[in-house]
Amino acid sequence: MARLGLLLVQMIAPLTVVIAGLTLLALGFGETGTREALRATARISLVAFVLAFMARPVHDLTSSAFSAWLLRNRSLIGMCFGFSLTAHLLLISWLIVVRHPDWPEVIGPLDIAIGGPGLLIVMAMTITSFPRVRRKVSASSWKRLHTIGLYLVWFIYTACLVSSFVEKSPPYPAWHYTPLIGVLILAMLIRVLVAIQRRSMLPTTWTIHPCLRTRLRLQRQRETAES
Ligand code: HEM
Repeated sequence: MARLGLLLVQMIAPLTVVIAGLTLLALGFGETGTREALRATARISLVAFVLAFMARPVHDLTSSAFSAWLLRNRSLIGMCFGFSLTAHLLLISWLIVVRHPDWPEVIGPLDIAIGGPGLLIVMAMTITSFPRVRRKVSASSWKRLHTIGLYLVWFIYTACLVSSFVEKSPPYPAWHYTPLIGVLILAMLIRVLVAIQRRSMLPTTWTIHPCLRTRLRLQRQRETAES
């Protein structure tokens, strides 16, 4: 079962390439096809991103076999996300080529100013997830890079989807966006609440799960004993 899960996660990156390729074949290699492929790559990568983003809080909340598996394989899931988002980067380059000598209207200054650092940080997170590279980076720098990266990518995803929902053309029905935006907001809420609880900053009466406080305390004691 665990092997099957791992295989499914590892399929995310090849699946992104296949779906992007099929979209281009179906709609053409021009601007329309490339934009659709861009949207598809972002959405498939989102699955891997949410799994990596939620691994820790889901484990804190449920302590199940699934959450333990998710946490154990969080690095690998993150790497699959990084590889999958590489297709987004390649398609952006392709869109620029296709629109040459004009600049693609859909790539505004904000996409470059916010999405650019986002892609760079995703690349840095992916590279530093390889065990050999990870060993060369200090634990605190690694943690800082991956924590900042996760929140930045969450912000970019939310901003892209909200801006598409509000202003992009061609307009798509609301259900193309609202479930994804909802999942992102819910994921952030859970993550922040669990993180606050983990640091014992909430009064006991605010505990979002009856057993969470005790379990987090035991888990923290175990982690301290192991380190
Ligand atoms: C971590 C970095 C990034 C993330 C998480 C991200 C996320 C997304 C998402 C969620 C969409 C789909 C929006 C929709 O469904 O309408 C999208 C589309 C798109 N992204 Fe990105 N993006 C990133 C970086 C970039 C960068 C750096 C650029 C360009 C400089 C860019 C250009 C585009 C374009 C052109 C589209 C297609 C928009 C359309 O045709 O309507 N993205 N991106």
